[in-house]
Amino acid sequence: MEDSYIIKGGRKLAGSVKLSGAKNAALKMIIASLLFSEKVVLDNVPRINDVIELLHLIRALGAKADFISQNQVEIDPTSLNLNKVDLLYASKIRVSFMLFAPLLYKFANCYVPNPGGCRIGARPIDRIVDGMKNLGVIVKYNSRTGYYEAKMTGKPAGSYRFSKPSHTGTELLIMLSVFGKGKITLENCSHEPEIDNLIEFLNDSGAKITKKNSLVEITGVDKLAFKRPFKIISDRNEAVTYICLALATGGKIRIENIIPSHISVFLDKLKQAGAEVKEKENSLFFEAVESLKAVSVETTPHPGFMTDWQPNWAILMTQAQGRSTINERVFENRFSYVEELKKLGARMRFVENKVDKPQEHYFFNYKKNKRYIQTIEIEGPVKLHGGVLNIADLRAGASLATAALAARGESVVNGVSILERGYEDFVGKVSKLGGEIKKI
Ligand code: EPU
Repeated sequence: MEDSYIIKGGRKLAGSVKLSGAKNAALKMIIASLLFSEKVVLDNVPRINDVIELLHLIRALGAKADFISQNQVEIDPTSLNLNKVDLLYASKIRVSFMLFAPLLYKFANCYVPNPGGCRIGARPIDRIVDGMKNLGVIVKYNSRTGYYEAKMTGKPAGSYRFSKPSHTGTELLIMLSVFGKGKITLENCSHEPEIDNLIEFLNDSGAKITKKNSLVEITGVDKLAFKRPFKIISDRNEAVTYICLALATGGKIRIENIIPSHISVFLDKLKQAGAEVKEKENSLFFEAVESLKAVSVETTPHPGFMTDWQPNWAILMTQAQGRSTINERVFENRFSYVEELKKLGARMRFVENKVDKPQEHYFFNYKKNKRYIQTIEIEGPVKLHGGVLNIADLRAGASLATAALAARGESVVNGVSILERGYEDFVGKVSKLGGEIKKI
């Protein structure tokens, strides 16, 4: 199987990129479509490995789900006939645990394995299971089989307050509450724009959901009705990747169909670093400057600086003047790219960062007796050179490909199927910008 890129770096990438639909909205919308009792069509669905895997998984459950045109997916949930999620598919795709919602409504009980996904930390689903239990679902983990066994004896009801926010947790509990009893209240929820997009889709179809800051209220309805193909928002993470790619190679780029408010904190940081940002007619324009300034970031859930952006930011900072730090607060293992980048000459090191109240500072479940290294320091600017790089997780993958494109000489990037889990037509888009990249 072709799973590597050969990249000849050192060219200034320039041109225009039309963003694809957001991975982290499309996946949830596909699962939410199984809550309907009729066919649903989703528009602007990215053709990426994660979507393709999810469609396989859904078909394995008996439902029909496939692309009907380049970026439209049709889901027909009426033939859903299995309440046990296949272990192999589930291990490949983390959002598989969100199938609890449609399966419980269809079968009243279901079996869902402990989820897989990117290796960016322990990624437990304890808050999510706790939330389901609070809404009345009986959930038990069977350590012999590795499956969660869930049962719903009546309509979900009540309220839940997340101890710490969870993006997919918020979305799953919303889906679970759509047909709930009376009004269900969810507190301390996540704020990600993809959640708003999911709420918009469900409300468009007859659900009654309101969201104010971190409070979500859902009044149960009897059914969802499909009205028209629902258009998924464009991918803000893809936007950030291409912006960093253009700037790190000294080029310029126009990002089409972007919603600027979805990346406003990133834009603020870019401006602090001295980059030029211009906005015109649904597009953002960026042009490399002589020298960027080093700017430190710490990741937090939306509306903060998103964890998915920091690997891209790190590449940009290798080209900036001075020393910057990245403090990762959301996941406990999101620096898999660091040792790889050092192979290209990047000057980066891990630093121990003592914080006052780590249990509050970090969004993962901080354990007292465990050693965490959540901060890196980057010195720039450095001239990167080619090398052999191995991808361990999706966003790290995009940053390694970016580094290889910014570096002088040839690089081989291995494990690109991981990158292609989340980036549609990466090779095509980079080539259009003038990058020399080939899949082998
Ligand atoms: N967490 C728990 N227990 C839970 C739920 C979460 O400990 O029950 C921890 C997580 O391990 C993490 C933190 O809480 O350390 C925040 O996790 P969250 O649940 O918010 O993240 P997620 O829903 O698993 C989604 C995206 C991620 C994105 C984060 C943050 C999807 C499919 N994934 O993950 O996207 O980084 O939210 O916005 O929507 C990616 O696209 O590459 C990616 C990893």
